Amino acid sequence: MDYNDFLKHDWHVVASSQDLLPGKILKVRLLGQDVVLWRNINNEAVAWEDRCPHRGASLARGWVENDALVCPYHGLAFNGEGKCSHIPAHPEAAPPKKSKACVTTYNLQERYGMIWVCLGTPEQDIAPFPEWDTPNYHKYFFGPTMYQSSAGRALENFIDFNHVPFVHGDTLGNSEYANTNGSEYTVQVSSDGIYISNVKTWENDLRIKGKVICRNLVFEVLRPLTACLRRVATDEPLIIFYTITPVDEEECLVWRWTFFNQEIPEKMFNEFTNSLMNQDVEAVESQRPKRLPLDLQAEYHLPSDRATVTYRKWLKKLGVTFGTV
Ligand code: FES
Ligand SMILES: [Fe+2]
Repeated sequence: MDYNDFLKHDWHVVASSQDLLPGKILKVRLLGQDVVLWRNINNEAVAWEDRCPHRGASLARGWVENDALVCPYHGLAFNGEGKCSHIPAHPEAAPPKKSKACVTTYNLQERYGMIWVCLGTPEQDIAPFPEWDTPNYHKYFFGPTMYQSSAGRALENFIDFNHVPFVHGDTLGNSEYANTNGSEYTVQVSSDGIYISNVKTWENDLRIKGKVICRNLVFEVLRPLTACLRRVATDEPLIIFYTITPVDEEECLVWRWTFFNQEIPEKMFNEFTNSLMNQDVEAVESQRPKRLPLDLQAEYHLPSDRATVTYRKWLKKLGVTFGTV
């Protein structure tokens, strides 16, 4: 990974909080780096490089014991701060002070029911999700969905509403209405990210066959790999908070929260979301190159692509290189 990549200093989801059980170890991968997660005795999650400082063994193969993670190779134990606390071959020795005897630790926060890790020095907080604490919504979690493609391609798919009539033509989308989207919407870039508003899309009414509804949508790209969609001016408000783990340059995981003012049976919600996501995965995985081209000469752009063209320019300006060409 390019050491100067913006993504190294940004927060990324690596797991769902509920999947990291006390006493257990989770191995995840972020930006091409293996990371090990576990919880200390206070139930605080910690994230470390998955590499024992002694002889480089994978710590994820170890176990949690006495508020420490034990490496399975020679049994060295590391406390919640990543410091070596016990060496079985020298049980009487004082714990070593050398930094060489410490595991590389990463910044971690739990928010929105997910575990966020920053491999570098965080320069800003996790993306805001102001509705998180509001009681007005029914909340549906979905993920992770794996894409064998770059995170940039997957994020771009989320804000590229022009694909809906085709990729999701059998459910939400309606290809007869494909030409109504393009010209009106506005795109603004600020220090908060990209604000795409006045997006008018036609969707099939999922309850009444043959009825088509015009939706007014706002997309906010809050961070390079986190975006939010809000349906506005409606009595059916809906919010999708969408964030992506850049696992490797050409592999990513998509996590989404859907907030809706109506209750839907969980099974129905999951089946519907799953079918939409599968359609997105197929479309995105078919794209070549898998890495998102930030050189605007590399692909052909339409006037209706203003949102995605702005996204590519913004990534380039920020200095995002992982998963791009
Ligand atoms: S490699 Fe981990 S204890 Fe030796
Ligand atoms: Fe889609």
